[in-house]
Amino acid sequence: MSAIVVFGSRYGSTKRYAEEFARRHSLDVTSFDLAYDLSDYQTIIYFGGLYAANVHGLKKTLKLIQPEHHLIIVTVGLNDPSVPKNAEYTEKSVRLVLPASFTEHAEIYQLRGTIDYKNLKPLHRIMMHFIYLKAKRDNTEESRQMVDTYGDVLDMVDFDTLEQINY
Ligand SMILES: Cc1cc2nc3c(=O)[nH]c(=O)nc-3n(C[C@H](O)[C@H](O)[C@H](O)COP(=O)(O)O)c2cc1C
Repeated sequence: MSAIVVFGSRYGSTKRYAEEFARRHSLDVTSFDLAYDLSDYQTIIYFGGLYAANVHGLKKTLKLIQPEHHLIIVTVGLNDPSVPKNAEYTEKSVRLVLPASFTEHAEIYQLRGTIDYKNLKPLHRIMMHFIYLKAKRDNTEESRQMVDTYGDVLDMVDFDTLEQINY
């Protein structure tokens, strides 16, 4: 079965996962902005960084995917997907952008990425500041991790978590 890994990454953590997954399974791999025709492949494994609950590059890539394709979506974000509330929220946001023909059979996996607050682009730094202020106000168990690590370099990329992807 022919398959390709496509990724949407702004700061590199999603790219790291995508390239490692492609290496382990000997698959082609490309960034979403270099993908123009996916019709030669039966399976598309899309890795995308989460930005305000949007999967970077997914909307553009969906235009190249047909309902006959087997679609696997892997999100990479900071939120801990082992917390059911986080996982449900992300999954719901992803399914919202999927055309009806994909909603039922697309598989979704969630992995954790990295952040280096000092090296964010200005707009992202401002967005994260507002998210931080909200997390501080919320003061829940989940928001506390964000508050405690705000401003630091956080690397939660774990290649072992790629093993859950059923391909
Ligand atoms: C502006 C901004 C918004 C983000 N929004 C989310 C989010 O909604 N959910 C989440 O889990 N992580 C979120 N993150 C964290 C990123 O998903 C995380 O840093 C990820 O590793 C980025 O992938 P990349 O390095 O491939 O670009 C956000 C980060 C930034 C800078």
